[in-house]
Amino acid sequence: MAGSEKKLTAKLVLPEGKEVPLPVTVGTEDEHAIDIRSLRQDTGYITLDTGYMNTGSTTSAITYLDGEQGILRYRGYPIEELAEKSNFVETAYLLINGQLPTVAEREVFGRMLTRHSLIHEDMHQFFAGYPPTSHPMAVLSAMVTSLSAYYPDSLDRNSSMDLHITRLLSKVRTIAAFSYKKSIGQPLIYPKNSLNYCANFLHMMFAVPSEDYEVSPILEKALNQLLILHADHEQNCSTSTVRMVGSSGANLYASIAAGILALWGPLHGGANQAVIEMLEEIKTSGTDYKKFLDDVKNKRDNRRLMGFGHRVYKNFDPRAKILKKMCDEVLTYLGVKDPLLDIAKSMEEVALKDDYFVSKKLYPNVDFYSGIIYRALGIPTNMFTVMFALGRLPGWIAHWKEMVDDKDTKIGRPRQIYTGERVRKYVPIDQR
Ligand code: ACO
Repeated sequence: MAGSEKKLTAKLVLPEGKEVPLPVTVGTEDEHAIDIRSLRQDTGYITLDTGYMNTGSTTSAITYLDGEQGILRYRGYPIEELAEKSNFVETAYLLINGQLPTVAEREVFGRMLTRHSLIHEDMHQFFAGYPPTSHPMAVLSAMVTSLSAYYPDSLDRNSSMDLHITRLLSKVRTIAAFSYKKSIGQPLIYPKNSLNYCANFLHMMFAVPSEDYEVSPILEKALNQLLILHADHEQNCSTSTVRMVGSSGANLYASIAAGILALWGPLHGGANQAVIEMLEEIKTSGTDYKKFLDDVKNKRDNRRLMGFGHRVYKNFDPRAKILKKMCDEVLTYLGVKDPLLDIAKSMEEVALKDDYFVSKKLYPNVDFYSGIIYRALGIPTNMFTVMFALGRLPGWIAHWKEMVDDKDTKIGRPRQIYTGERVRKYVPIDQR
């Protein structure tokens, strides 16, 4: 690299010897990127980067993370501080609007979230149409897409996006709780305006019309923290999907529904469910967890230690540290003795000393302990990924908004290197 601190330039030497100068972009945390936007036009070459391991798809002012140092900050605020001092609604406001709200802004935002918590009564019929075995992620994504049918002005990006954003944040919580109630055959519980965001969700999940239900402040706090920890993670698979779909001009609801579907996969948000299934399999089969770890290391049946490893964190996941502590607190408060937690802790202890995991820089990620906390809160395993979606929603919205507001946004359209047949003549079927 050459040049002054402000204008760095990289040089690329092509096989034919031509030297191509490429500008370097530097972020506020001194991250460096070689800007190849003019490369194809200038040289005919493209870059190849499967899985986008080295490719920045955008600049962004929302979240900073340093995988080597285990740093995660939303709009400059460390995740540890937000988890301790903020709540989910305030953090959502911060992510979406760029600043912590003033007292007046917080009050208006909270009031709007409360006002928009109901879903159109006609949408209740949709829940009835799904079989009880439906995965709640299928229901959630379909319902979020359906919201665009109830608010058709969302198709026009010049309509009030703030209103759609508030509606979405509020209604997703109601949809998630309704889909759970439907799956267990209980009556739907309507939101209660006197309750805060997380308490209201717990109320809709666990209250029944025939009994009083009081939300425990400790569980409400735990849920707030869990959602804050999941609220954003810069250009991950689901967020990139939201940006990609949104870049075509698709409306907010459609873009977020696509993000929900991307999150569903077991290598992404589905991992918290996969962790519990793995721990349950070990417990019910009576397998020695050390033998299970040996199978993972020998890649038997392509086994992985679910909840371990991360594309970006190669040292530790700061969210997992907070969750491990919270897990102990919640289980102690509830008096729950969960054998799966004992297995998880033992596996973690062994894996962190094992050369296979150490050499590949595989550490517990956010999903290793979140599932155990959700179980303790009474949330069923197949709802875990829905909980993740609920938490990630402000992040998806913030990125969607940033993408829409950025005048440099172009439709996402990667290129490829073709490796198939060269041109050949069509052979009629009777001659093949
Ligand atoms: N258990 C065992 N081995 C693993 C694990 C794991 N959990 N994760 C990675 N490895 C191994 C791979 O087999 C590979 O080994 P090799 O070099 O011998 O081929 C090496 O480590 C690198 O793995 P990649 O899959 O190339 O790493 P990548 O960065 O692409 O994957 C991922 C990251 C998908 C998270 C991976 O670590 C994984 O599958 N973990 C388990 C699933 C999980 O917990 N996902 C949640 C991620 S966090 C989130 O989305 C919120």
